[in-house]
Amino acid sequence: MALLELRNVVKDYVSDGQRVRAVDGISLAVAAGEFVAVIGRSGCGKSTLLNLAGAMDFPSSGDVFIDGQKTSGASDQQLTQLRRSKVGFVFQSFQLLHTLSAVENVELPLLLAGRPKAREHALSRLHSVHLEVLEHRFPHQLSGGQMQRVAIARALINSPKVLLADEPTGNLDTSTGSAILEILLRLTREQNTATIIVTHSAEAAEIADLVITLRDGKIAGIKRK
Ligand SMILES: Nc1ncnc2c1ncn2[C@@H]1O[C@H](COP(=O)(O)OP(=O)(O)OP(=O)(O)O)[C@@H](O)[C@H]1O
Ligand SMILES: [Mg+2]
Repeated sequence: MALLELRNVVKDYVSDGQRVRAVDGISLAVAAGEFVAVIGRSGCGKSTLLNLAGAMDFPSSGDVFIDGQKTSGASDQQLTQLRRSKVGFVFQSFQLLHTLSAVENVELPLLLAGRPKAREHALSRLHSVHLEVLEHRFPHQLSGGQMQRVAIARALINSPKVLLADEPTGNLDTSTGSAILEILLRLTREQNTATIIVTHSAEAAEIADLVITLRDGKIAGIKRK
């Protein structure tokens, strides 16, 4: 069964009285352990699609199912709960808290959820991205690639079913980006997440199980490995 499923999903935005159809009837199923790359020109709807897939927003029509749970019709509280328990997000700009050390950034979601052994779990996640020795460094004392590894460890701290990354290598040089892609692919297999990454990287498209090209909010091409 797919961990993530979109059925004929549409998303309209209205700005200045104009309707923009950012996502225009997308259907997609991502299985556990599957790594999907989404590519396409600026403005074609990639980030919008990711936000819908991660329950950050509701579709205007159609349905999104995360581990079998439908996002539309859920209350804000249910949606927040769904997001916290099932979705991990990684961003181009890392989005770490700068006053917290690496390990504190990673353990924060567990502390907020009142879960036990937060430190122990956070250290093991840092270990899985090979950063345990830098646990007490603050973000400004880390390289871009190291910051992104901290962000990946944080995204995976709640053992999410769905892992979403919006241009995770966009701020990194090619070889650092390459290492980050390898980590994302390995963790997708190890943790059995349904993973979607938005990317401009040719390498990402090469290693992905499935490459989806978007154009004007629609799927213009699908390439399976
Ligand atoms: N909150 C919003 N309000 C109005 N329009 C929006 C909003 N967010 C996105 N859009 C529009 O929806 C379309 C898709 O935007 P989206 O951010 O998904 O593109 P993208 O493929 O991620 O682009 P990029 O590669 O530049 O990040 C664009 O036309 C954009 O202007
Ligand atoms: Mg975008």
